[in-house]
Amino acid sequence: MSLERIDFSSVPRHLACVMDGNGRWAAVRGLPRSKGHEAGLDALFEAVDGCLELSVKWLTVFAFSTENWRRPVEEVRFLLEFNREILRRRRDELNEKGVRLRIIGRRDRRLAGSLLREMDKAAELTAPNRRLILSVAFNYGSRTEITDAVRSIVKAGYEPAQIDEEVVAKHLYTPEAPDPDLVIRTSGEHRISNFLLWQMAYSEMFFLDVLWPDFTRLHLFDAVAEYQARQRRFGGLDQ
Ligand code: IPE
Ligand code: IPE
Ligand code: MG
Repeated sequence: MSLERIDFSSVPRHLACVMDGNGRWAAVRGLPRSKGHEAGLDALFEAVDGCLELSVKWLTVFAFSTENWRRPVEEVRFLLEFNREILRRRRDELNEKGVRLRIIGRRDRRLAGSLLREMDKAAELTAPNRRLILSVAFNYGSRTEITDAVRSIVKAGYEPAQIDEEVVAKHLYTPEAPDPDLVIRTSGEHRISNFLLWQMAYSEMFFLDVLWPDFTRLHLFDAVAEYQARQRRFGGLDQ
């Protein structure tokens, strides 16, 4: 798959990825699961570079779910520390590429202050960038996000009749982001796992068997080419 098949006039505005399969990638190599997570970082940068090449404006990736706390404590600890390190070591590179980095998810007390500070620093440093807005979903669950939205709507004192879809959408974590046009999930799993449930109402889904650490921009171009061949109807009829 090359760039030639891509129609640059209709690339997705917003692409979302469930980066899945790191553990299995490591297991087939007889390595600890942490090595799979480390290898997955290159794939994330492939996705970023692929989006920059295609001029995709929004990329949202699922890095740690509210359900991932159910994993063994050593893996959770590794993931928290690993993500803190990535933010520290790679934020300049993202900044140089013109990427604005944001972290979405619940900032609860299970996240160390040092991790929250790295998140804020990276967000602040890259805030003026406009080439690509990369949202990393960390301690993110869509049901938690919707619950948080309901809380803030109640707190703001809305009357029931004032609440419509626009009001709900405005209280989600990234109200200014368009809904994802295309959602990619690697590793052969065909499920959503509590990612962007509200926002995905009319997203096109692309599932591939490749494990996340093996994902390259060529897979991304493939997904975009298939997306462009689909007919989106949003409940209406073909034009
Ligand atoms: C995705 O890979 C990364 C996270 C969920 C943090 P997994 O760790 O889920 O890898 P598999 O699905 O067990 O192979
Ligand atoms: C989804 O993957 C979450 C992330 C990629 C961070 P999981 O591996 O946690 O999902 P399930 O448990 O297979 O549904
Ligand atoms: Mg998984």
